[in-house]
Amino acid sequence: MSEVPAPLVVVGAGVAGLSVALAAAPRRVLLFSRAAGDGATALAQGGIAAALAPDDDPDQHAADTLAAGAAHNDAALVSRLVNGAPEAIRWLAARGVPFDREGSGWQLGREGGHQRARIVHAGGDASGRELLAALSGAVATAPHIERREGWTLRSLRLQDGRIAGVGLARTTGRGEVQIETPDVVLATGGIGALFAATTNPPGADGAGLAIALAAGAAARDLEFVQFHPTALAVPGLRPLPLVTEALRGAGAVLRDAQGRALMAGVHPLADLAPRDRVARRIWSELRSGGEAWLDATALDASAWRQFPTVRSLCLAHGIDPRVQPIPVTPAAHFHMGGIAVDARGRSRLPGLHAVGEVSCSGVHGANRLASNSLLEGVVFGRRLGEWLRKPGVSPRTNVAAQSVVLAPAAAEPALLQLREWLWQGLGPVRDEATMRHALARIDAHAGLSESWQAGLARQLLLSAIARRESLGAHHRVDVSPDSSIHQRIATPAYGENN
Ligand code: SIN
Repeated sequence: MSEVPAPLVVVGAGVAGLSVALAAAPRRVLLFSRAAGDGATALAQGGIAAALAPDDDPDQHAADTLAAGAAHNDAALVSRLVNGAPEAIRWLAARGVPFDREGSGWQLGREGGHQRARIVHAGGDASGRELLAALSGAVATAPHIERREGWTLRSLRLQDGRIAGVGLARTTGRGEVQIETPDVVLATGGIGALFAATTNPPGADGAGLAIALAAGAAARDLEFVQFHPTALAVPGLRPLPLVTEALRGAGAVLRDAQGRALMAGVHPLADLAPRDRVARRIWSELRSGGEAWLDATALDASAWRQFPTVRSLCLAHGIDPRVQPIPVTPAAHFHMGGIAVDARGRSRLPGLHAVGEVSCSGVHGANRLASNSLLEGVVFGRRLGEWLRKPGVSPRTNVAAQSVVLAPAAAEPALLQLREWLWQGLGPVRDEATMRHALARIDAHAGLSESWQAGLARQLLLSAIARRESLGAHHRVDVSPDSSIHQRIATPAYGENN
């Protein structure tokens, strides 16, 4: 009797999970996700970075990635990422992503930290949505993939020191399934939903990261959280609508309440400085009682045609961005840290792989370069899928198995508090006293302290306390700037201005 090979189980159906699933053919893939399209991919506006212009090349893309990342990046992986970008764009186009064209070439936008126009986009500023639609279509017709929606990760089964299976629960709360497999890929996204202000959807809550760490995977760079400088400032709204950086690439300018350019003199790239610099500038302006506005009123009608998503999001909140400045605030956007993985997406726990935002390969360093995240999902997701075409080593079954189950979740009122403490403690500007205060409040909160969210928050805070330097998105005001050698090498000697 021939044995049926174990399936590859992929949890998460954003750009990274879909890319893994497609590339793993002909191996049978079980692709689990919560609701279709409810992840961060669908909200991505700007696009995908790729050196495609005649005046550009992957080395320049790599240099910009390293400069944004404060040289904390894994340089070999950066090289792999940027060199894989042009082919990734062609692969996506062949799967039906309707990238915007200019004549016979790509229409290329520009975003923060990029020295060249290299952002390929679709539907103007609807890149994530278009990409998700095309890849989901390809998955729907792929005979090797069985897609199951309405499921969330609940447990990992370990045996003989490696992965033996995975447990998923229905999002409705009724029903669970256990799948035996030696290969699990987590593509569950980031942690932005743990912060009071975020551009991330509710599902980006770090549950995948929390369970992987509980099962024995190692964490890396947890302290590096990226804040997008320009979320639409609508008090109380979650997530906050993104106002893409590409708008600044097209000429929009950040201004204070008096109409002065906020980024003048802060960085040579001014409004197109790397995200951490712009986010800190806005954060300090708002903290000192000021205001931050994105002025896109000088863009002409043809430029505005590239930004239908931003325009309609603003209009929905009573702002016509063609004639009025847009109120903006920084918001948690992307986690550079995550499950530590090697160049092949392997965690320390044999059989457990991670890709996309939940993972940390080191490619983004201390601050991700704009529009490198969809790129990471496609380039590293496809490579991982190819490596996992063949099943991994199964555990010896004469050894006892154990299940690591996600701890109970905190209730919403307690989570509201947690998000506020993380926003204060782990926001764009940090100091030890505020972080320790957040830790103490979490520990003292009866409805929170035993939850998995509290456990993860503690690990984030402790990592940030332990890094006694400012580096990229991790900015400490209570340590001397001279303690960061990387920062001095990677960024020009401009005033921090905050
Ligand atoms: C944006 O469009 O500003 C966000 C793109 C990204 O996060 O890379």
